[in-house]
Amino acid sequence: MNPITGCAPDQFINGASTAPMDRPLTFAVLGAGARGSAYADLALKRPGQAEVVAVAEPREKVRAAFAARHGLGPEFCFADWRQLLDRPRIADVAVVAVQDAEHREAAVALAELGYQLLLEKPMATTEEDCDAIAEAARRGGVALALCHVMRYTPYTVKLKELLQAGAVGDVVSLEHLEPIGYYHFAHSFVRGNWRREDESSPLLLAKSCHDIDWICDLVGQRVSRVSSFGSLTHFRAEAAPEGATDRCVTCPLQDTCAYSAATVYREGLRKGGTKQYFTHIAAAGELTESAVTAALTDGPYGRCVYRSDNDVVDHQVVGLEFEGGVTASFTLTAFTPLENRHTKIFGTRGQITGDGRHIEVYDFRSETRTIHDTSLDGSAAAEGHAGGDEAMFNAFVDALHSGRPDLIVSGIETSLASHRVVFAAERARKNRTVVEL
Ligand SMILES: NC(=O)c1ccc[n+]([C@@H]2O[C@H](COP(=O)([O-])OP(=O)(O)OC[C@H]3O[C@@H](n4cnc5c(N)ncnc54)[C@H](O)[C@@H]3O)[C@@H](O)[C@H]2O)c1
Repeated sequence: MNPITGCAPDQFINGASTAPMDRPLTFAVLGAGARGSAYADLALKRPGQAEVVAVAEPREKVRAAFAARHGLGPEFCFADWRQLLDRPRIADVAVVAVQDAEHREAAVALAELGYQLLLEKPMATTEEDCDAIAEAARRGGVALALCHVMRYTPYTVKLKELLQAGAVGDVVSLEHLEPIGYYHFAHSFVRGNWRREDESSPLLLAKSCHDIDWICDLVGQRVSRVSSFGSLTHFRAEAAPEGATDRCVTCPLQDTCAYSAATVYREGLRKGGTKQYFTHIAAAGELTESAVTAALTDGPYGRCVYRSDNDVVDHQVVGLEFEGGVTASFTLTAFTPLENRHTKIFGTRGQITGDGRHIEVYDFRSETRTIHDTSLDGSAAAEGHAGGDEAMFNAFVDALHSGRPDLIVSGIETSLASHRVVFAAERARKNRTVVEL
């Protein structure tokens, strides 16, 4: 008998079930960081259908705050997700929101215990580990939704509707840009969690498995060939301006350096939005002057961007050829303002230009432009990924709660296929070759 729901184990829904549930779908959140907390907050918006019943989080203060927010007793709070393995399953769903390198171990073990999986991207850090997760989910008969939130935004839904309706005829090629943004890049990929391949993963996997997945989803064909180029050109010691010191708080250049942590995180204290989201992370959740000063003085986020231990690329391009001949080019770069992604789709009867919110359709025959405003903006994590976080979470809840597995559009097989393209692109870049899939 499950201690929380009072249900016998066989009453748990599985990935193949089509029976609606008469109680809330229950969630154990693994990692109460930025992503785990965001999904848990979305559960609060679905009372009666979704309920967080357990958390695993090593940071005591963070765990306590999470437990208070979701009304969890101490018996359902754990310092390590591995503690969930010693007991019968205590929730329907495990939200795997720990760091990338732990995804395989957690997802495989929890699928074996019969947890449905809401798994953060990237699926895992190697192709072999992605295969192992997919295999464990298939074997356990559990549902797996990868948090490819871009697939669920109102913008993407509209874009796919237009393409399927033939708004630009047959798609022939596509150009997609991910402007990561200079201070977002410095925060996450020079100073932060995803700065080193050996500790997390290559940038294309960590940041842009979303984009490769999204391009594959739009084109709807199998990728046949992949090429890629990219390197770390700027955030390295040789590029440091003269006089720069190891920490921004002691640096004489802090008023002129675009990447000064002192400027970015202090602005985050005063202003809301994405800078505040990053300040929250840098100062471990404490939005005070003293917490920021301490973080800048001793913590990883106070390091000079030219003297960190980062090794991931700061710009990269990927070329894709699909079966049937459609081609796509993808660029990611640190050197932009923080903006939405930009996309152009070239069809036999017209062109689509998209900025993450507006979709402009240019029709060759009538020479007219039609603009569709999908109303939600803000593609950053701090802004809920333009409605993607909420739409994905709701689709997952509805899929399992109402017995509609078809609502999960980022399931095992599509996610595995697009991750394979990312791994192929990295092989192409590192081996200076074109990879056939
Ligand atoms: N879908 C998206 O768009 C998106 C955006 C950002 C990050 N992510 C991914 O989400 C995952 C989490 O990222 P984040 O930004 O929330 O990071 P985070 O560092 O804010 O959160 C991770 C949490 O895991 C906790 N943790 C570490 N070891 C643990 C353990 N043994 N047991 C339980 N908890 C443990 C950490 O203390 C931390 O609170 C990563 O895989 C990341 O790549 C996805």
